[in-house]
Amino acid sequence: MKDAAPQPIYLADYTPPNWLIDDVHLTFRLAPNATRVVSRIAFRPNPDTASRDFFLHGEALTLIDARIDQKPVTPDLVEGGLRCSVPDAPFIWECEVEIDPANNTALEGLYMSSGMYCTQCEAEGFRKITYYPDRPDVMATFTVRIEGDMPVMLSNGNPVSQGPGFAEWHDPWPKPAYLFALVAGDLVNHPGQFTTRSGREVELNIWVRPGDEGKCAFAMEALKKSMTWDEDVYGCEYDLDIFNIVAVDDFNMGAMENKGLNIFNSSCVLASPETSTDANFERIEAIIAHEYFHNWTGNRITCRDWFQLCLKEGLTVYRDAEFTSDMRSAPVKRISDVIALRARQFREDNGPLAHPVRPESFVEINNFYTATIYEKGAEVIGMLKRLVGDDAYAEAVRLYFNRHDGQACTIEDWLSAFQDVTGRDLTQFKRWYSQAGTPRLKVTEDFKDGTYTLHFEQHTPATPGQPQKAPQVIPIAVGLLGPNGHEVMETTVLEMTEARQSFSFEGLTARPVPSILRDFSAPVILERATDNAERAFLLAHDTDPFNKWEAGRALARDGLIAQIREGAAPDAAYLDAIHAMARDDSLDPAFRALALGLPSQDDLAQTLADLGTTPDPQTIWEALETLRQARAQHCQDLATRLHAQFQVTDPYRPDAEQSGARALANAALGMISRLDGGAQAQRQYDAADNMTQQLAALSCLLQSGTGAEAVQRFYDQWRHDRLVIDKWFTLQIVHADPQDAAATAARLTAHPDFDMKNPNRFRATLGALAANPAGFHHASGAGYELLAEWLIRLDPVNPQTTARMCSAFETWKRYDAARQDMIAGQLDRILDTPGLSRDTTEMVSRIRG
Ligand code: ARG
Ligand code: ZN
Repeated sequence: MKDAAPQPIYLADYTPPNWLIDDVHLTFRLAPNATRVVSRIAFRPNPDTASRDFFLHGEALTLIDARIDQKPVTPDLVEGGLRCSVPDAPFIWECEVEIDPANNTALEGLYMSSGMYCTQCEAEGFRKITYYPDRPDVMATFTVRIEGDMPVMLSNGNPVSQGPGFAEWHDPWPKPAYLFALVAGDLVNHPGQFTTRSGREVELNIWVRPGDEGKCAFAMEALKKSMTWDEDVYGCEYDLDIFNIVAVDDFNMGAMENKGLNIFNSSCVLASPETSTDANFERIEAIIAHEYFHNWTGNRITCRDWFQLCLKEGLTVYRDAEFTSDMRSAPVKRISDVIALRARQFREDNGPLAHPVRPESFVEINNFYTATIYEKGAEVIGMLKRLVGDDAYAEAVRLYFNRHDGQACTIEDWLSAFQDVTGRDLTQFKRWYSQAGTPRLKVTEDFKDGTYTLHFEQHTPATPGQPQKAPQVIPIAVGLLGPNGHEVMETTVLEMTEARQSFSFEGLTARPVPSILRDFSAPVILERATDNAERAFLLAHDTDPFNKWEAGRALARDGLIAQIREGAAPDAAYLDAIHAMARDDSLDPAFRALALGLPSQDDLAQTLADLGTTPDPQTIWEALETLRQARAQHCQDLATRLHAQFQVTDPYRPDAEQSGARALANAALGMISRLDGGAQAQRQYDAADNMTQQLAALSCLLQSGTGAEAVQRFYDQWRHDRLVIDKWFTLQIVHADPQDAAATAARLTAHPDFDMKNPNRFRATLGALAANPAGFHHASGAGYELLAEWLIRLDPVNPQTTARMCSAFETWKRYDAARQDMIAGQLDRILDTPGLSRDTTEMVSRIRG
């Protein structure tokens, strides 16, 4: 017998809470298997609602005692919480529960990680700590007392008092329960200090396990930069006396913005040159900023309900991208973000998991922390800013902050601020929040009597539950280049609102070459018939860095598609154009490194599917190998020159300049390794004094099939550093030959260091298998079987991470019948597992369709 299907909840069913809270007192008596949580909550009736039904969420709690106005009561324990009859007037609820943090492997609520207590309450984890109206529109101030024998005991807000065996904290800012946090453990701090622009002295701390204190300096600097940037750019100042960050080894996501007490996956905070790559440093800087920026966009102004998640996430991702652009290179950040957007969000938007930026229903909210809500949500903010202009954007955000400080808000509140400032009707723009799917933008053009006209046609394909789509507002940034490569019209933003629309440009002396969708001004797929000559021209001459990169990318993609579909040889036009680009020393090395990247296997599979060709993962992999080999030969001398020219001799710095140089040198090393059997990579490996150089060399050695010895040495060198060993697991699987990938992953799951309870390690192993598409989709089906087997094993331990990783299967419908059958078989096998979690049931059912 199957369990009853979990029921969705709907945005349309939202009703305000019946009871409001001003103030919460919590006492924790910590014990690994029997922590007691005592709550004292002042409830008052919500004057805006009629019902006085009193329901508190609660899960996995043992109720010890409950009182209303000091009199014992016996609540009805019901599915997901409790009900109790209560007075029709303000009252004090007191309750004691017992919980078991040591056995909480789901890593939601209060749990233990490497001997320390920590929490993760977003989205609905607080109900695993005590009975509470666990919904974001109930906001209260919190006073927290922690009793236990841990040397460091932290909660939100400011410290009130502490002594032997206890610590007390008070958070004066009303907040929803999902922003609650508690940490207790044997921790050491890396201290810092910040003075806000109005003169508040803020104590900063990064708390880590003893031994990791040497890896905090970079995150601390990133935090200070974030605090300054948010004051300078958004006028947002920090609002407590202390800001704590804690690194935790076992964590489902990247990090969490709990008020005054951010909790981070240790992989997103700990950094040192020896153990972290340039990419790790950049990501840490961005995540520190992201969580800090939530203090205003998320905490001071939060979400009314979880359907509004993009209100805080899309906006905060947009803000952290602006920050990174300011700290580093704006074009490089934009190009990298678009690569990631296409890889994750376009893929999601094009398959069975497609959903709007503001979903209208969900079964398990944890399944909606997606690329669509985060990354497409950020694109929507970027479009809004482009449409209204920088000044109006700044003014509208200011209005939003002033109007809604201390409130739990909706997308309507956000858009109203823009409507009120600009007088613009944003009704149509709002479709970006409600319509799923990536719009396709078809472009044709004509030129007559000095007038050049671009004809656009937009179409968004059907997505689950949304067969028909209405036209969206698309800001299309366009520039025009003359035949000599000079710009004849600088970037102009066209505002498309109709299904078909044309825009003309007059007074041109010759037919121009258009540069369309500059800076990737909208998250759409551009469809335009063009040729190699024009792409090479744009790669050489476009003044817009994004479109310059895009031209090279399109050239590579078309050539690869011809290799795959027609058995063509690697495209000479691409090889010549990319050689010319790579040797151009006027270009930023980081840009050149990005332009030397190739479309991913997954990109190519989708492009083929769009063209009506069933993708064969092995053929795609071979085409990429063939092209890389041809390119290495074509660029042989240049690669040797670049590798030497961009060696960094200064002491290591993880900044844009040095990491750009290393990225280009390592792209060159990739070419060299295809010709010298790995000799140069071996020399780099032996000499490396930082992880970027060491890992790049190891990747090259693995790809040239000469990595066995280095793999062993790497393990021996780093066996005591779990974050580095995660890389060791991943690299061997990602670079395994397609026919060996599943076997390699299977072998590593038997390694003594494999630990499925640690999400980082699980992802480093099984996630890496999915990141080797030709291996994962190998015709034997071994990849599918291995992943399904481990998802079934992980589900009872950690439903959230299991459910997220099911998305490896989301593209299954694009493959041949044999693969589809095998995948369907594995999806059914997962669904048939007795007691499967709500999280995984929802994901697999949606994918299965
Ligand atoms: N709000 C966090 C962030 O974006 C993500 C936490 C999500 N956690 C979860 N279990 N769904 O920084
Ligand atoms: Zn966030």
